[in-house]
Amino acid sequence: MRSQTFAFDVYGTLVDPLEMSQHLQMMVGEKAGVLSKLWREKQVEYAFRRGLMGRYEPFNVCTLQALEYALEVTGLSLSDEQQTFLMGQYQQLEAYADVIPGIESLRAQGHYCVAFSNGPADKVKALLNNAGVLELLDDVISVDEIQRYKPDPAVYLHLLKRSGSQSGNTWLISSNSWDVMGAKHAGLNAAWIQRDPAAVFDFWDIYPDKTVNSLQYLAEAFSINNGYE
Ligand code: LAC
Repeated sequence: MRSQTFAFDVYGTLVDPLEMSQHLQMMVGEKAGVLSKLWREKQVEYAFRRGLMGRYEPFNVCTLQALEYALEVTGLSLSDEQQTFLMGQYQQLEAYADVIPGIESLRAQGHYCVAFSNGPADKVKALLNNAGVLELLDDVISVDEIQRYKPDPAVYLHLLKRSGSQSGNTWLISSNSWDVMGAKHAGLNAAWIQRDPAAVFDFWDIYPDKTVNSLQYLAEAFSINNGYE
């Protein structure tokens, strides 16, 4: 079998950003769930909008500005110290349980595995190092290198260039449907990691090549389909 390049999205795919709700719970009580969901939604929306407007700022700026917005909307307030603590915790998110065995198995099959994120490479490396995932990866590739955001086709072409791989042999692996669709639109293969059974894939005319609920199942699918190109 020809070896493939697997490019893993980070937030929501390798580590769980909703883990932040546990910290928020200590600070704001029962509104933590609503706050963390709105925070994540706005963070992603800000990256989309900055991409469209050509007004790039690093993803951590989107994260902080989204927190400020989400606090205002929910009528909550946090001190500067609490906000700094939360931003620090964003670097300490844990890997989902299937991540290390899944990537180990893909590596053992001879595949090339990279992280591919909206986050700047230094932040993503620190996060994945804390989570015990960095040492399993061949590289960390960030959209920051071209100052554009997913799902701009340019970032997926940058991934191909940086990893020295062809679109037909490259898989974007993400729990974010819009990331999967962006990669497919740019000509790559893509697998959707359906981490939440209630998650719904968008009803457009673009679908994932594979849907699994863990990286271990993904690795199994590739070892079974060993004639896969
Ligand atoms: C990333 C975000 C979008 O890691 O999940 O790119």
